[in-house]
Amino acid sequence: MRKFILDLDTGIDDTLAIAYALGSPEAELIGITATYGNVTMSQGIRNDLAITDLFGHAEVPVYAGLPHATNKNTFEVLEGSRLIHGKNGIGDVTIPDSPRCQEASSAIDFIINSAHKYGKDLTYVATGPLTNIAAAVKQDPSIKEIMGGIVIMGGALTVTGNVAPWREANISQDPEAANALFTSGAQCTMVGLDVTLQTLLTTNETKQWRALGTPAAAFLSDMTDYYIHAYELTSPGLGGCGLHDPLAVAVAVDPTLVKTLDVNLKVETDGATRGRTIGDKDRLNDATKTTQVAIKVDVERFLDEFMTRTSLVVSE
Ligand code: BDR
Ligand code: CA
Repeated sequence: MRKFILDLDTGIDDTLAIAYALGSPEAELIGITATYGNVTMSQGIRNDLAITDLFGHAEVPVYAGLPHATNKNTFEVLEGSRLIHGKNGIGDVTIPDSPRCQEASSAIDFIINSAHKYGKDLTYVATGPLTNIAAAVKQDPSIKEIMGGIVIMGGALTVTGNVAPWREANISQDPEAANALFTSGAQCTMVGLDVTLQTLLTTNETKQWRALGTPAAAFLSDMTDYYIHAYELTSPGLGGCGLHDPLAVAVAVDPTLVKTLDVNLKVETDGATRGRTIGDKDRLNDATKTTQVAIKVDVERFLDEFMTRTSLVVSE
């Protein structure tokens, strides 16, 4: 079975990504590496431990990553993130703290060691800023060739961003890290806002979870209803909440869910367009392309898989 690492800033849709991974028989979640973004890294770790416990998967270890962006000393949760994900990152829903703690070793060491241990059987999915994977590739560049795949939720090729017109949240938190990864030669699949804003969830689906009658299902539906409401306030007329992070996991499990465009990308790190994902002029015509950008998604099939897999996880 393929081994998965999820790198998360947990976050409501990050939680949905955990549920998708745990409900996927093709994937074994061997660890969560924590990052910052929707919440501080320490809140993210607390969420990861509590959520995996609630979902009946206390065997999943959680590793602490780097607590702030490459070129910063501190990290503050943005007001926009609090609005979308709640103060605690999980829609201000309360779930019991886990009796477990984070692992003693760092996220960076865990990523590097897992790449060497599992090689092509390892898929890494990042649904927050790319600080941890960029640091791991910098520390041990050989993992680029060894690992089976890197899938990221972040950026946008065509649509406007969600932080500023040219900026998507995950990339804009650490443009230096994202640029380092995209220009490192590592093969990455980018699942950006171009496709994730086509995969929307509504209260019709959260009602289906709630009907399962378990504490985990109640948590998932309460938390996601908060997210849907936040989307109604911030993106009126969209018609639901964006399933950003679970789509990245779904693509890692089954790449045929999306059509991709091969392109060498970079991230602008200077000036007014800092954080924008854009074609790299210097590598545009290179024969080897390192980023596969998702440009079309089979919405119906994804939503079907999403409901089946997440329902499986919260039905007991
Ligand atoms: C991304 O930003 C975060 O708010 C979400 O969890 C998702 O990973 C969407 O731009
Ligand atoms: Ca996220």
